[in-house]
Amino acid sequence: MKNTIEEFKNKKIKIGSLEVSPPTFLAPIADISDSVFRQIVKEFGGIGVVFSEMISADALTRGCKKTSFMLNFDFSEKPLFFQIVGKEPLRMAMAARMLEDLGADGIDINMGCPSKNVTKSGGGSALLMDLKKAEEIIRKVRKVLSIPLTIKIRAGWNENNLVYKEIGKIAENEGVDAVFFHGRTKKQMYSGNVNYEWIADLKSRLKIPVIGNGDIVGRESLLKMLETKCDGVMIARAAIKKPWIFKELLDNEKVEIEKLIEIIEKQFKRIMKIYPENLAKHKMKLFLSWYSRSLPKGKSIRLQLNDAKTSKEVLNVFENYRNSLLDK
Ligand SMILES: Cc1cc2nc3c(=O)[nH]c(=O)nc-3n(C[C@H](O)[C@H](O)[C@H](O)COP(=O)(O)O)c2cc1C
Repeated sequence: MKNTIEEFKNKKIKIGSLEVSPPTFLAPIADISDSVFRQIVKEFGGIGVVFSEMISADALTRGCKKTSFMLNFDFSEKPLFFQIVGKEPLRMAMAARMLEDLGADGIDINMGCPSKNVTKSGGGSALLMDLKKAEEIIRKVRKVLSIPLTIKIRAGWNENNLVYKEIGKIAENEGVDAVFFHGRTKKQMYSGNVNYEWIADLKSRLKIPVIGNGDIVGRESLLKMLETKCDGVMIARAAIKKPWIFKELLDNEKVEIEKLIEIIEKQFKRIMKIYPENLAKHKMKLFLSWYSRSLPKGKSIRLQLNDAKTSKEVLNVFENYRNSLLDK
């Protein structure tokens, strides 16, 4: 185990012109992977590239205010990939170009999001049902970019409609630089287990890097993913519960719970400073609910969060919890 992980830690891969080492990726996570969170993950180390949350190409190119908050970043986060979502090839290209001009190190196209909000308008995993459209989007986006372009996919809409081989080939032929593969179908959402065979199969068919994604929570699941021979790994949910997950996986270093308390404190202060009240409250509730899963007696936090109506009240829930820990 130790040797394989040590080897992985020192591995270098190329995504287009970008060298990535270690080949570890913080996933795009809606409402979570913002600049504040990316900096926290980055500070712990063990991370190759961080991704933004998905950004609607439509909203970005129409100048939507909420989207502008998603564009913040600090140079310490680099290399940083922005992920775009949508279904109109020209708008996707325009959005990609805007993000390259803003300073992105890479652009990722979301072809896997299963949420109804996204698929009903033809984006995310709906593109797995319309490979012609997916191809057109990739072609148009590739044409306007000089930085690396990647796609993030699921295996298909459902078990009877597996298209990962087809979309993988299209991507490779159209000049995509890597495929991020969450080994589930759209229909599965997050149920069942990630399918390692699909990931190994895609890896064996493509020359461009295939990054495995799904269910990595510790060194054992990391090793299982590496058995697919994937070129790198991407993590979402485990990183929200433990922002130090990459460091823990690679160096087998545990982080004390006090550290998480310290992080939350800093993070919430920054969130309250940067975001308008409604967005700040929403984010703080979301984060505290995820973090509570790593905290002792975390359920009590989640119960109290239901009644918190402002960001200040969410902060109070956190501070009361922290004080109760210190009293012991
Ligand atoms: C709350 C939440 C938000 C997500 N948002 C996005 C997103 O914006 N774009 C995307 O491609 N995937 C998104 N995903 C999917 C993750 O990036 C990832 O593919 C999936 O959670 C599987 O990885 P994991 O097992 O490490 O969590 C989201 C997942 C979760 C749980």
